[in-house]
Amino acid sequence: MEQGSTHATRVTIERLGHRGDGIAAGPVYVPDALPGEVVEGAVQSGVIAAPRIVTPSTDRVAAPCRHAKACGGCQLQHASDDFVAGWKVDVIRRALSAQGLETELRPIATSPRQSRRRAAFSARRTKKGALAGFHRKASDVVVAVPDCILVTPALAAALPLVEALAVLGASRKGELSVLVTDCASGLDVAVSGGKPLDTALRADLAALAQDHGLSRLTWDDETLAFKPAFQSFDGIDVVPPPGAFLQATEAGEQTLRAGVNAALEGCTHLVDLFAGCGTFALPLAKRARVHAVEGEAAMVRALDQGWRQAQGLRHVTHEARDLFRNPLLPDELKRFDGVVIDPPRAGAEAQIAEIASARVPKIAHVSCNPVTFARDCATLVAAGYRLDWVMPVDQFRWSTHVEVVSALSLQD
Ligand SMILES: C[S@@+](CC[C@H](N)C(=O)[O-])C[C@H]1O[C@@H](n2cnc3c(N)ncnc32)[C@H](O)[C@@H]1O
Repeated sequence: MEQGSTHATRVTIERLGHRGDGIAAGPVYVPDALPGEVVEGAVQSGVIAAPRIVTPSTDRVAAPCRHAKACGGCQLQHASDDFVAGWKVDVIRRALSAQGLETELRPIATSPRQSRRRAAFSARRTKKGALAGFHRKASDVVVAVPDCILVTPALAAALPLVEALAVLGASRKGELSVLVTDCASGLDVAVSGGKPLDTALRADLAALAQDHGLSRLTWDDETLAFKPAFQSFDGIDVVPPPGAFLQATEAGEQTLRAGVNAALEGCTHLVDLFAGCGTFALPLAKRARVHAVEGEAAMVRALDQGWRQAQGLRHVTHEARDLFRNPLLPDELKRFDGVVIDPPRAGAEAQIAEIASARVPKIAHVSCNPVTFARDCATLVAAGYRLDWVMPVDQFRWSTHVEVVSALSLQD
């Protein structure tokens, strides 16, 4: 590598970092570069911010989205689908191998274009009205994305509504954060960062919600318009609280659910830990008794209501409980023959240790963080489980994120 802060330095990219930037020896970080590429540019603080690609990778493609250059929403649009899939699988393989684990890695399931059903848009007032979209890379500048190919068509079509919300309720210099979720019953919109509500603003927002047929409009903590904003979990309707966790795409949710089902085949009494609003627990109740445990009481209430209104489900019990501080103990776990566990990014160190002691026969482990997933699997394997298979699931297409669903079974 030739070094120098003002001269063009030429480097060869060795690998991608976890944020999707190319890394050359040094290390020198190069945004939007791919392994094997020779690039040059001025290095400042270990970064070539404006690289010229001297030798492009055969994995380099023209970005499929016309907004990709300006928009910070996607990180990997310059790489082929095969490259991204292979890289994500490798992230998982390396995380497992760092814990001394090897297993069958099933083919990755990538969600289609235009399938992300929730987006956090940003909106600002402008001299002419308002501008809504995503942030430019590493910037608070908002970029309009009318032809975004990531989100569902209904979400892309919501951008004028998001702008109208900013015209009505953004302060002159502030930015609105507008979480829009595509629901069967219309859009579910949760706004934060706006002006405080007063009588006039409440009335204007309620009228806007009605004009756009929104299923729900929430302004900070106040719900201004409401018809039930349903999500259907394998045919079971649930109304999640505003902004509550939801799997990012319907295709991804179905793949995860199929994986959970396969991992727990034959089980009749299940516990779903970090259950959310019942994405897995309620469909599993079509064939097994289920106990669902989740930290957010409002999500547990939504799950319970979904269960009460559904037909033909087996018994579902539930509790709101902090599983980091107060994990289910072996005495409580002993009655189950299968566990679903789907923790947040931090993983579930404390709860996994208790499952390992309880020796519940089968585990379906879902995770959005390969590193904590591998750590938690290593604890289970050390306690006598086998990691039967892992399936990568890419719901966050063109990002650096990847999820997994996996099966573990207790060996005699
Ligand atoms: C990755 S989400 C999975 C939710 C659900 N399984 C689904 O697929 O919709 C993780 C869930 O863990 C919950 N959670 C986060 N920290 C928790 C804690 N300390 N104790 C219990 N639940 C927690 C979150 O509220 C969220 O619903």
